[in-house]
Amino acid sequence: MGKLDGKIALITGGSEGIGFSTAQRFVIEGIEHVFITGRRQQTLDEAIKKLGNKNITGVQGDVTKMTDLDKLYDIIKKEKGRLDILFVNAGIGDLAFLQDVTEEHFDRSFNINVKAVLFTVQKALPIFVDGGSIILNASVGSIKGYPGESVYSASKAAVRSFARCWTVDLKDRHIRVNAISPGLTDTPALGAIAQGEAGELLANLMATAPISRLGTPDEIAKAVVFLASDDSSYITGIELFVDGGLGQI
Ligand SMILES: NC(=O)c1ccc[n+]([C@@H]2O[C@H](COP(=O)([O-])OP(=O)(O)OC[C@H]3O[C@@H](n4cnc5c(N)ncnc54)[C@H](OP(=O)(O)O)[C@@H]3O)[C@@H](O)[C@H]2O)c1
Repeated sequence: MGKLDGKIALITGGSEGIGFSTAQRFVIEGIEHVFITGRRQQTLDEAIKKLGNKNITGVQGDVTKMTDLDKLYDIIKKEKGRLDILFVNAGIGDLAFLQDVTEEHFDRSFNINVKAVLFTVQKALPIFVDGGSIILNASVGSIKGYPGESVYSASKAAVRSFARCWTVDLKDRHIRVNAISPGLTDTPALGAIAQGEAGELLANLMATAPISRLGTPDEIAKAVVFLASDDSSYITGIELFVDGGLGQI
């Protein structure tokens, strides 16, 4: 028996990084079907292949585009008729010091990390089952003040706030909403940031964590499985940190 037997799930941004590892864990835990999304068709196709092609549907689309979200939920409704688990994972972590922040940087971060999170959840509600589990991917940045992360951290603090408020908004439907907050995690996104000027900043930051190494995407995925499954049936509205202690000291 898997922890997610018989469940239908959606993971936004499931073709790489934390989303992909979570799809792998969902499959291990017996998920009935998982939908994953991403903008690049080829990356999505490769992910589906790695996941074994079974019980997986890849839907190409951009979560910041409302028409793409509508198309995504039309497909899920047509293929499965319902969703039990929603992992709102797609997001970006672009860094900029206050003096360098542009309107474009602000809009890009808030469009995907905040606006798209809201409408991904809102548009899921008509097919989301009562008693289901919604997990929002925030970040340890939501409670910290790291250099160059003001816009990113503010966007992730908004995500944490969404989890708190939606727990109440969805109370009558017994839908649990939790945020998961990874620390520095070894994904393509972090790799890209670490190659630039921010590399030294990130290395210094990592050294301050009690567990002074990057987290693996699978370490985050295992915690998502916990929040998605009945193992967390009495847990809602929380922010679960999976950060090697980075934000806890
Ligand atoms: N890695 C870390 O250290 C870390 C730490 C804290 C929090 N997080 C959070 O964890 C989440 C995942 O991060 P990650 O590091 O795993 O990122 P990643 O390695 O860049 O993977 C991101 C995934 O999301 C997809 N994606 C990106 N933009 C999208 C969009 N507009 N619409 C649909 N799909 C999109 C990507 O595919 P396409 O590019 O093809 O669209 C890819 O599948 C983010 O919310 C991030 O803020 C990460």
